Amino acid sequence: MLHGKLVRLRAPERGDLPTFVRWFNDPEATRFLLRGPPMSLEEEERWYAGLLDRQDPVFCIETHEGKLIGNIGIMHIDWTDRRAEIGVMIGEKDYWSRGFGTDAITLLLKYMFEELNLERVGLFCEESNLRAQRCYLKCGFRIEGKFRHHRFKGGAFTDDIMMSVLRSDWEEMKGE
Ligand SMILES: CC(C)(COP(=O)(O)OP(=O)(O)OC[C@H]1O[C@@H](n2cnc3c(N)ncnc32)[C@H](O)[C@@H]1OP(=O)(O)O)[C@@H](O)C(=O)NCCC(=O)NCCS
Repeated sequence: MLHGKLVRLRAPERGDLPTFVRWFNDPEATRFLLRGPPMSLEEEERWYAGLLDRQDPVFCIETHEGKLIGNIGIMHIDWTDRRAEIGVMIGEKDYWSRGFGTDAITLLLKYMFEELNLERVGLFCEESNLRAQRCYLKCGFRIEGKFRHHRFKGGAFTDDIMMSVLRSDWEEMKGE
């Protein structure tokens, strides 16, 4: 388990799946996520069964009181170039904008730089997702550029912002 100031990151368990399904079927919570059609418990169980065979780790975000509030994962790890991407969701909306996302991402970055020895962590974020961008900036990410018309949703194309944090950015932040 990884322990932060507000949250801890732990491995997902089968018992968490109904909560994940509830979040993924909440249009407000998934508005900015790369999600397909509504998700069933069976679909989520299949995803869970495949987790052990994948090299992309997923963590549950829970408060120190043990409340499951979201999940966070590492994707597209490239061990030669030592880069990866992350995806994050605080599914419990009452916990938005209270610093939990920042704490979870900061913990994961520490793990990615100090344990996995990565050089670069990147992500895509929809341009209109201002809360997420603010959160990522607080965690040390920098804006690299815009991917125009990168997503099609709600009948229109939207732009994505590419952000990244390098090991040197991370070390600079730690020294502050
Ligand atoms: C994005 C997400 C992970 C951020 O986690 P969080 O716990 O809500 O974020 P934090 O509280 O750590 O930081 C959010 C910051 O954005 C600010 N903020 C909130 N709404 C904002 C808005 N509309 N415009 C600008 N800033 C905003 C908050 O005030 C806070 O900044 P502050 O600490 O300086 O006051 C979480 O909100 C979430 O999962 N949302 C739904 C799914 C999603 O968007 N995932 C990311 C896909 S790229």
